[in-house]
Amino acid sequence: MTNLWKPDLDQGDSPLYMAITDALARDIASGHLPAETRLPTHRELADEMKVAVGTVTRAYAEAEKRGLIYSLGRAGTFVGSARSGGLRLVNAYEQLSDLIDLTRYRLAVSEDPDLLTTFRKLSRRSANQSLLQYTPPGGLRHHRKAGAAWIARLGREVAPHSVVLTAGAQNALNIVLSMIARRGDWVVAESHTYPSLPALAELHGLNLIAVDCDDEGPLPDAFEAICRQKKPRSLFTNPTLNNPTSITVSEARRRQIASIAARHEVLIIEDAVNHALPSDPPPLFCSIAPEITFLIASLSKVLAAGLRVCYMVGPSHTTARLQELVHTSVHIVSPICLEIAAMWISDGTAERTLALRRNECRTRYEIAMEVLGERKLITSCEAYSGWLELPPPWTAKEFVLEAFARGVKLSPAESFAVEKKKAGNAVRICLGGNTSRESLRQGLLIIRDILDKPSQLESPRV
Ligand SMILES: Cc1ncc(COP(=O)(O)O)c(C=O)c1O
Repeated sequence: MTNLWKPDLDQGDSPLYMAITDALARDIASGHLPAETRLPTHRELADEMKVAVGTVTRAYAEAEKRGLIYSLGRAGTFVGSARSGGLRLVNAYEQLSDLIDLTRYRLAVSEDPDLLTTFRKLSRRSANQSLLQYTPPGGLRHHRKAGAAWIARLGREVAPHSVVLTAGAQNALNIVLSMIARRGDWVVAESHTYPSLPALAELHGLNLIAVDCDDEGPLPDAFEAICRQKKPRSLFTNPTLNNPTSITVSEARRRQIASIAARHEVLIIEDAVNHALPSDPPPLFCSIAPEITFLIASLSKVLAAGLRVCYMVGPSHTTARLQELVHTSVHIVSPICLEIAAMWISDGTAERTLALRRNECRTRYEIAMEVLGERKLITSCEAYSGWLELPPPWTAKEFVLEAFARGVKLSPAESFAVEKKKAGNAVRICLGGNTSRESLRQGLLIIRDILDKPSQLESPRV
């Protein structure tokens, strides 16, 4: 390790280990040692200072107790930060492994709200103990009010009493499917969709069918043909910045699809997990056709997945049944998490976090455009991922293997295809995830290199 940190001691009367800790504290406070800096090992510092290893061990233990540093075992000891513990882990793991992981569908944790500040705010309030209790059926009113505010933020005004609180989109989806679908029913989904949907469909004994899409979303004629032939009960759609294709269904297309659905008595399950990301999104299906749409508005992608908070609104006659199903599936959603979500929505944290995420998305989009140029990456400056259509002779699987061999992890189209035979040759590239901007650039450069040298395919693969 180069540039080993060495304490500038001001020992006075204090024991040596304490003087080392104090020096560490001073260097961190002055910015000389920035957050996430890797510190020398106990032995390295002991050798450098010509002191016993035990003295350094005590100094680091004291510093850790004061929250100045943290240890990750073999990965080393690092300067802490006011930011979340997750960021520390991510950086440490990045230093441990050379693999550039472009499979994580989210933005880097450096944009997350600061949990420490939130806990401090919470700790100054007096009514916290009630958050440890079971809440009444349907949850607390101010939590549903926060949900209504969030849904208004997405473009639809709803009354707080119609908001159903769920433990994430996954829970909401499970509940909706169990309410509206009977075993053997057909569920339509975009040809590439949220990868947990097939597992949920299987759980409920449902058949999935893919509707072909173009760059505006599901093709109306194809949807209508499916409605005629299969008489599906529901359409699952992730219409804004679809995971994985990044496509946003246009307003005109939404209206066409909603009108076909209404004609054929198909219910729409609208997964709006990314709907807050674009600054000017098309209207929600839930606004266009509220009487047939279940809106699932999870906070996972735009605020924090670990909160497990999602707000759902269905056609008005379904609210009570949906609430019962929440009770059956998870009893209640954690009031502590709902409280944090409500705080973030009302105190501006949600808006600030969104602004940070949008900013970061744009920067990463610019990196992707700069590196991949004219190559066929479908994405938007507000998306967490890009969809790279591969030129022949690549197949998605071979491309993913080649990228992995060169240290970049990607997801093949097949992982998202509702019908595997229609998967096509594309890969999803997550532009955020756990990678730093620099790692992203490196990963994209490797991808470009592979794309530009298809001759490597000539060598046989195992
Ligand atoms: C399209 C989509 N919907 C839902 C989810 C899951 O959301 P939640 O964490 O709220 O269950 C994800 C997670 O990646 C997703 O990509």
